[in-house]
Amino acid sequence: MMAAAINANCGGREHAAIYVERQVVRWFQDIFRFPGTASGLLVSGTSMATLIALTVARNAKAGVDVREHGIAAASAKMTVYTSGEAHGSADKAMEILGLGRKALRRIAVDQAGRMDTGALARQIAGDRAAGLKPFCIIATAGTVNTGAVDPLNEIAGIASDERLWLHVDGAFGALAILSDADRHKVDGIELADSIAFDFHKWLHVPYDAGMVLIRDGDAHRAAFGAKQDYLAGAERGLAAGQPWFCDLGPELSRGFRALKVWFTLKEHGIRRLGEKIGDNCRQAEWLAARLDQDGRLQRLAPVGLNIVCFRYFDPILDNAVLDTMNERIVVELQERGIAAPSTTRLNGLLAIRVNITNHRTRISDLQVLIDAIVAIGSSLRDEIS
Ligand SMILES: Cc1ncc(COP(=O)(O)O)c(C=O)c1O
Repeated sequence: MMAAAINANCGGREHAAIYVERQVVRWFQDIFRFPGTASGLLVSGTSMATLIALTVARNAKAGVDVREHGIAAASAKMTVYTSGEAHGSADKAMEILGLGRKALRRIAVDQAGRMDTGALARQIAGDRAAGLKPFCIIATAGTVNTGAVDPLNEIAGIASDERLWLHVDGAFGALAILSDADRHKVDGIELADSIAFDFHKWLHVPYDAGMVLIRDGDAHRAAFGAKQDYLAGAERGLAAGQPWFCDLGPELSRGFRALKVWFTLKEHGIRRLGEKIGDNCRQAEWLAARLDQDGRLQRLAPVGLNIVCFRYFDPILDNAVLDTMNERIVVELQERGIAAPSTTRLNGLLAIRVNITNHRTRISDLQVLIDAIVAIGSSLRDEIS
């Protein structure tokens, strides 16, 4: 309400709202141990953050002035590497940037859903031998399906050896850095060239609010900076206050997103917010342990952070029937107002996906969920036989 009433345009110029956004960016530069020369921007979410980061990476690595001449002027086809479990926003970025989805090499994952770094190195070497131009790796800190975190340190080593840009999609998982008990899971994120993450997921900020951080602030400005006469800067007055945020992304007019993030951090503090993130991870571990003790429920993936994937199970039923049953269970849970899990497919099997990001979630809520799944599953089972 305040941001709407203030009605600031955060594209640039010299006014209070700009200072609030700069403060928020600086806080997160510090949290991710980026240097003071890094830069960042509040955006609608991780999809936009990844698009901006990949634009900077593409322009920095193309070897030609892409802004002037377009991507067709690059000496060879530019390729990007990410895991088979990476979010679809990476595909969209490739499409929009004129690189094409085929140039996004989907690397195999291990049993835990993490990028296979041997396969990554082989794909890069093969592409170089074929005359292509690898330029970027997108690692994921918290995959959308299961919350798996790619081996960030190893991938950073490959990126450094191969002189590739390392972008980390940390939509929700990056903020595990705030939890004392879980920080180690995203170790290596601080080595990234760019990070995309959301405040509207695990930091409980109202939609929409995400951030892109770019290690090389000059490269960031080089990708988007554009001074027109009608946007000329000045030493004093409203036209002062460089750099302007419109020079760090595609948008000129931008709302005051930073205020709600600023208030969330000031009100709760990163220690408490980190504790809540830790609580969700412990709840996911508790849920996984309970599922493993119950023969009627089958876990379908390891728990990396806060996501638990499983299904109602009966060894007598085939997978097609179990898929239909589990789909029905989720709809029943949602329509009866019991819980709001989603579904996904893991190794061809339909999974109930429980992503615990609510600071109000209690273990007793998870017990209600388990009981309801077993009860609905058993009654569907009776219907079949
Ligand atoms: C791993 C991952 N990346 C990217 C996104 C896209 O984020 P947004 O919806 O904020 O654009 C999501 C959303 O769920 C995600 O889980």
